Amino acid sequence: MNWLIAVSISCCCSLLFLRWLLRRKRFNISGKTILITGASSGLGEALARRLFNKQCQLILLARRMDRLENLCQELVQLHPSYPKPKTIQIDLSNFEQITSCSSLNNILQHDSIDCLINNAGISQRSSVLDTSIDIVNDIFRLNYLSLVTLTKLVLTKIIERKQKNATIVNISSLQGLIAVPDRSSYAASKHAVQAFSDSLRMELKEEYSEQNINVCVVSPSYIRTELGQQAFSRMNKDEKSGDDNISKGYEADYVAERIIKAIEYRENDVVIAPFVQYLAIWLRRLWPTGYFRMMVARNKRLKAKK
Ligand SMILES: NC(=O)c1ccc[n+]([C@@H]2O[C@H](COP(=O)([O-])OP(=O)(O)OC[C@H]3O[C@@H](n4cnc5c(N)ncnc54)[C@H](OP(=O)(O)O)[C@@H]3O)[C@@H](O)[C@H]2O)c1
Repeated sequence: MNWLIAVSISCCCSLLFLRWLLRRKRFNISGKTILITGASSGLGEALARRLFNKQCQLILLARRMDRLENLCQELVQLHPSYPKPKTIQIDLSNFEQITSCSSLNNILQHDSIDCLINNAGISQRSSVLDTSIDIVNDIFRLNYLSLVTLTKLVLTKIIERKQKNATIVNISSLQGLIAVPDRSSYAASKHAVQAFSDSLRMELKEEYSEQNINVCVVSPSYIRTELGQQAFSRMNKDEKSGDDNISKGYEADYVAERIIKAIEYRENDVVIAPFVQYLAIWLRRLWPTGYFRMMVARNKRLKAKK
């Protein structure tokens, strides 16, 4: 009898899942105006390349202007008739200056942003005791406070213009769901991004439901980018030692493709991780002590290998 109940429940679940899959509406992103922060390398650059191929009008932000310019030149040479990306040199960690940045304000005045991708971020590689409060401050200024500032700025315009179907994408991390040793401030900043996005999503649904603005949080596992090297150099550690996890991570292009799909299908929460890491998220929720023991043992193993 029990097996009959179990089979009936799984059939119902499968049918509901199938119905949800078939009824999912796809929004075409081609030709939309998209602002990407941290577009000079890694995931931001991969997103820019893919979205340019969809003929989107890109607005690319970062500090390294030479890298942004090279990327633009390369893209324009590839498809001269597609909209030429616009670039803005800005230090987002100086978040108080975001609202007074004239080139950004000029663009926000004239272009309707259909999608904001808050991607710029920095990480750390040090224990709580070894991390100076200045580094904690820098991480929070860029990973959280600049994201909130830019979101408020863009969202105000979206609401003023009564724009429909806009999307805010916040790039968090798997470490926004589960913390690991030596990443305390990075993980805390990404947990803050997750909470901010969840609150914002509910507020927009409640107050501006007719505009159908989506908030999507993306929590990827390791991606092969410069993030680890940047963290090492900030901590004055040996850059050449690299980061084993990052070097074994996903290709930025793969993650970018998955994010674009999430924008098109208006997903809320996207976790991009191998199956064992999904299990770790559940283990943390259901049996925290077990998760902590497992992570301490893993960290000891990793340190012993070095
Ligand atoms: N790599 C991973 O394993 C991984 C995993 C999960 C989540 N993520 C997240 O993915 C996002 C992208 O990181 P990534 O892996 O692509 O690393 P990345 O290659 O180091 O890219 C970081 C980007 O952020 C920009 N940036 C850094 N500081 C900035 C500042 N003060 N002002 C403006 N822009 C700044 C950098 O540009 P400039 O230096 O030119 O300013 C760069 O374009 C981050 O939010 C990261 O937390 C990464």
